Amino acid sequence: MRTYSIAIDGPSASGKSTVAKIIAKRLGYIYVDTGAMYRAFTLAVLRAGIDPKDEEKSCTLIGKINISFDSENNITLDGENVAKEVRTNEVADNVSYIASYKEIRLFLVEAQRKIAQNVSVVMDGRDIGTYVLQNADLKIFQIASAEERAKRRYLENKEKGLKTSYEECLENVNKRDYIDSHRAFCPLRPAENSVQINTTEMTIGEVVNRILQLAAERGLR
Ligand code: DC
Repeated sequence: MRTYSIAIDGPSASGKSTVAKIIAKRLGYIYVDTGAMYRAFTLAVLRAGIDPKDEEKSCTLIGKINISFDSENNITLDGENVAKEVRTNEVADNVSYIASYKEIRLFLVEAQRKIAQNVSVVMDGRDIGTYVLQNADLKIFQIASAEERAKRRYLENKEKGLKTSYEECLENVNKRDYIDSHRAFCPLRPAENSVQINTTEMTIGEVVNRILQLAAERGLR
């Protein structure tokens, strides 16, 4: 059976995961949150008492830990559901270091490609269209202003009962934008044949409809 893939890339908190989840449900595809995989690796590094700024020590966990998703699509670390743990400030503050290490990226990219091999996916991240799924049937580059993204992250955290101020969210968004787009290997940038969508003044429904329209135009089912 022919499978399809949609790549949604963009900076932190640009609303990719919210949109990707809805699109996946509407099309009957599997949603793959690759950011959660980098976060789970970061959690493993922190739990091992390793400083995430130490590349060599962080890389020692490659091949020793298992990062996957359970049947309800929760991120798992060695079989444990860590969906909540990967959203803490400590993980958010350190994940960009981990995501900048080439060996760790290659380890997680392999797992991501494996998932997309036999099923249709909506995969969101930073390098899906440029690297992980270079032949994706549809590539979206989703952006929004830093202030709007910090506001969204602040409200999302509040809803989840996590205590973070708007200023902390803005600082974290700006810091991660910088590190994500300046790393040497697979930096955040739009794929050549991607469609850019600026969601600053769009509702979730509008973004979803736009992407579904693009998918339909390309014959994705
Ligand atoms: O999407 P997110 O905020 O959960 O991503 C967490 C971090 O992981 C973010 O700083 C960028 C990084 N990341 C990445 O480098 N490549 C991906 N494909 C996904 C996320």
